[in-house]
Amino acid sequence: MATDLSQVVGFTLPPKPVSWNQRDLLIYAVGIGAKADDLSLVYELDKSFAPMPTYPVVLPFKGDSQELNLFAKTIGGVQIPSMPRTDPNRGVHGSQSIQILKDLPLVSGPGWTWTAKYVAVAENKSGIILTVENQLLDPKGVPYAKLYSSSFAIGAKARGEKYAKGIAGPPQAKPIPKNCAPDWTIGDKTSPEQALMFRLSGDYNPLHIDPKIGQMGGFGGVILHGLSTFGFAARALIKAIGGGDPKSLRLYGVRFTSPVRPGDSLETRAWEVGVGPEGTVEIAFETVDVTTGKVVLGGGIAYIKKAKGQAKL
Ligand SMILES: *[C@@H]1O[C@H](CO)[C@@H](O)[C@H](O)[C@H]1NC(C)=O
Repeated sequence: MATDLSQVVGFTLPPKPVSWNQRDLLIYAVGIGAKADDLSLVYELDKSFAPMPTYPVVLPFKGDSQELNLFAKTIGGVQIPSMPRTDPNRGVHGSQSIQILKDLPLVSGPGWTWTAKYVAVAENKSGIILTVENQLLDPKGVPYAKLYSSSFAIGAKARGEKYAKGIAGPPQAKPIPKNCAPDWTIGDKTSPEQALMFRLSGDYNPLHIDPKIGQMGGFGGVILHGLSTFGFAARALIKAIGGGDPKSLRLYGVRFTSPVRPGDSLETRAWEVGVGPEGTVEIAFETVDVTTGKVVLGGGIAYIKKAKGQAKL
């Protein structure tokens, strides 16, 4: 049945309780490929140990539980008014951004919540794209992070014609400078077990562990969580530009442009393109899967505090 999408924008979900502890932060760090020398992320006694600023992206999956969850339940079950039912197996993560408003504590304690408000919808011939604005709030309602996430429901149909409505959206990256070598190039390698580690942070979608499901989805086997690749590139920028200080990164966003297979090698290419707020520089970046040659994270934007003595290369 055709629906008109008119009530999607502004639709708000009930706030969801979320929590984390130091062990969750360590588990997340290895899920995004932290190595033995990334002590500020993997060693709780390191003097600069701090939460990876991108950690909140896994909270809507994890919630406030320390147990596994059933993936189908974490994403299904929400009926958005005037939106047709969509096939969860044909949904792909389109983009993700996070703005860090206050540094996260190492342990949340009880009372934190995750809010979600639909802020944009667009339909075209290939499907429907939804953008959600999320906030992470402490028990007093103070926002610590503001995020935008868009997902593309491939093949979904509502009005059957081009339509777009929006009241907010993610920060837009500046274009990558043409004919200009990156100021920073950071190589890294995912491990064949990368998705097994990343899922422990809360996204237990079988697509990332069961080869049969990956085959059915047309991916030729399991694929790595887009949010793991998202974390790999954030780590790369913090290491190369922020001197390894997790607190250096204040805003970070990407578009997901192609899947990564566990075991593939990645290369993040970053350009300094301007001045950001609060003593940061603005970075434009992309991440390439060196194994396939494809850009996997495009339209990258970051505001990051450059470490002292960190000259452009
Ligand atoms: C529809 O929108 C999506 C998401 O922005 C885009 O990837 C796709 O190319 C668009 N398709 C058409 C036919 O315009």
